[in-house]
This record gives sequence, C-alpha cells and structure tokens, in this order.
Amino acid sequence: MRRSRLISLVATTIALFVGCQASTAGDTAGIVLTASPTRIALGRDLPAVDVWSYGGRVPGPFLRVPHGGRVRVRIDNRLPVATTVHWHGVRVPNAMDGVPGVTQPAIEPGTSFTYEFVAPDPGTYWFHSHASGSEQVERGLQGVLIVEDQDPLPWSQDVAWVVDDWRIDRRGQIDARFDTGHDVMMDGRWGNVSTVNGRTDHVLEARPGERLRLRLINSANARVFALDFGALPARAIAVDGTYAEKPFDPRGFELAPGNRLDLDLTIPADWRGRSIDVVDTFTGRAAPIARIVVADTAPVATPSFAAPTGTPVAVDAFVNAPPDLAYRLAGGGMGHMGGAWTLNGRAFPDAPDTELPRDRPAKIRFANRSRRIHPMHVHGAFFRVVARDGEPAVEPFMRDTVFVHARETVDVVLVPSLGGRWALHCHVLEHAEAGMMTVIAVP
Ligand code: C2O
Ligand code: CU
Repeated sequence: MRRSRLISLVATTIALFVGCQASTAGDTAGIVLTASPTRIALGRDLPAVDVWSYGGRVPGPFLRVPHGGRVRVRIDNRLPVATTVHWHGVRVPNAMDGVPGVTQPAIEPGTSFTYEFVAPDPGTYWFHSHASGSEQVERGLQGVLIVEDQDPLPWSQDVAWVVDDWRIDRRGQIDARFDTGHDVMMDGRWGNVSTVNGRTDHVLEARPGERLRLRLINSANARVFALDFGALPARAIAVDGTYAEKPFDPRGFELAPGNRLDLDLTIPADWRGRSIDVVDTFTGRAAPIARIVVADTAPVATPSFAAPTGTPVAVDAFVNAPPDLAYRLAGGGMGHMGGAWTLNGRAFPDAPDTELPRDRPAKIRFANRSRRIHPMHVHGAFFRVVARDGEPAVEPFMRDTVFVHARETVDVVLVPSLGGRWALHCHVLEHAEAGMMTVIAVP
C-alpha cells in the first residue's frame, strides 16, 4: 500500500472512533478538525444550542494515542474569529503550545494550522482554544487527549467524563454576555446547566463486577466540582495526567477548572440492576450530574491488578525553603474590562517574562491577596504542591493546575525541562482574560 493511502486509511479509522470512547491506540496521523459553528442538544428535552465545536461535537473528539505516539492534528478555522488550540498539561514543544502572541500567531478565519508532537507522558489531557478562552471554551471549543500507557492495564472500561457547565439564557442559548463585570470581579462565569460529555442526562452503563478507569476532566470556565460517587468504591489514581504515588480517597477532591482526576472504580458484584447518581457537592448543595447504571446481569470477573502508581519525588527539602519566584495574586487597576487581575501588580500582556533556569527545581509561591479563587495553571511542566499557608502540605501527586483558595498561599516546586516561553495563568478564564497571566521563559 502506498504510504499516503496508508496514512489516510489510518486517519479514517481513527476518525471513525472520534467522539466515541473505543480504544483507538495508534498515531493520530492526519486528523483534520474543523473548528466551526454547530448546533447540538445538551439533553433530551432541551432545545438545540448554537455552539462552536471541533468536528461538530462538544466536547470535541476523544483522541487516544499510545505513549510516544505522534499527534498530528490540522485545525481548519471556519469560525468567524481567530483561534488556537492549547494541549492542556501536555509537555509539547513550545511552538505547539497554542498561546496566541506567545507561541504562535492566532489562526485566522479561513486558514489552518497543524499541531504536531510526540505524546511525551501517558495520562489524561485535554485541549481547548487559548484565544479569547472565556468565550471560545464556553462556546464549546474543547476536546480530550488520552495518552495510553505503554502496557495498558486490563480495565473493563476506560472512559472519560468531560465535566462542564454552561450559562444558558432564557432563549435556551449560550448567554452571549462574556466577561461581564460581575464574572470578572467575582469567581468567573459559573453556569446554570452542568453537563457530562455535553449532556445533562449522561449515563455510564456498566456490569456488576466491572473495574473501570474513569477520567474526570473539568472543562468549565470557572466552576469547581467535587464529585461524590456515593456507595461506589472509588480510589483516585492520577491527578492532572500522572499517577499518584499511592491511590487515595477522592472524596472532597476539588476538581478546579483544568484539573483531571482518574478514578479506579469497581462495581460491586451484588449491584445487579442498581443505579446511582453521581453528585457534585462543591457548592454544599448536592447536584446530580450523571448516572451510573449497572446492568441486571450476572457479574463479570473483576480484573485483578495492583492499581498503578507514580514515582515518588523527593520535595521535602523545599517545604521551608524560600521561594525562587513569588506571585502576588490580586485584583485592581483598570483593564479593558473595567477591572483587572494581576500577578505582582501587572496585567498581561503588560507583564515582563520571568526567566527560570532549565532542569533546575524552582519553588514558586502563589500568594492570593484576594477573596476570589484562582486555579493557577502552568504550561509545559508538572509541579508538586509542598506547602499551604506556610505549613507543610506535600501532595503525593503532580499537578499542572492548583486551586488557590481565597487568601491562601500555595507553594509548588517544578522543574522546567523544556525551553521556550510558557504561559502561567489563572484557569478561571475570565480572570485570565482580565490579565491574570504571565510568561515563564526557559532558556
Ligand atoms: Cu488549559 Cu493555558 O490553559
Ligand atoms: Cu483567578
């Protein structure tokens, strides 16, 4: 078979699985994603909503590649506005990071851009627009990237849930008032409709005895979720892509915008015909967001294997060390939206790069001087939380996004391993738009 034929065959095979959750280990050679206006239904009795999507669905495709596989995705921009794609959490070469004005010019309407990189780390990642994110991500420009382990474990099912919220207006459409003064000054845009994989009525079907890997991704502009699986035995095994040092109880885990949490769930053998609502408890009022329905069939044998774990990282020496870099997170000033969010008093793009040496651990302090929440995200590197409010708080896992609560100070340690200009910003997208972003330059 000629090479080009083969490539297009591979591409079609993968494209067939795009959006569904079958395992499609293989390179995503030649995937073309059109970013364009589309209409979708969020639920059975809800009117169709005008969205912007990758490939006609929200969330966009669930891409799966093997560890070390090549991701090559051409974005055709058929939107009325310029856009980019950022591969959240993925340590891509800097030129593929998708930050307009920092790593590339935005992709103008009617033009294309091809993102290409080798999937560097296994785990759960996602991709989203990084141009006017507060509008474009809310309108639907988001998708999933799963990088498979070298030897995938024999889960009964390996599925992803994109947890999102939407602000729907009286006409049943996405409220077109973005970056309102209220949203900017407060905790960003919190919606009035929550969805899992783009549906208000999402159902995960399982059989008694099954062992599932469930990958949670918070793609909301600003809402934090804390999911409760009730009586279902659940262990958290990975955060923001990488495996935790040891599995932990996920109850109360605050899944902030940008965060991922992978769960190891076993459906008890005696749960025949049972179903449970998964509820979000973050606001203190339990809100069901999806349902797990267990088939009324005889139990299957539960796959038995030790839960995967990550390598411990020695960070204790940093707990009390002075920070190499400290950011004061505060509101103020008069940005283009009437209010600004700043890091050390500067609102992006009016902020100088900060240099960090390559391959050397750096301790970064996020000191929140405001009463608002700031899930701080760093591009191009994972980090470890080592202290909160000056107290040792070493987490047994890596992150790329950490929820900094009102008035809280969080210390993290990261090792920049890739050269380039890496964005660091609040993942409350309204805060980022209002200036809460800066660049770390790694030589
Ligand atoms: Cu998910 Cu810079 O963002
Ligand atoms: Cu913020």
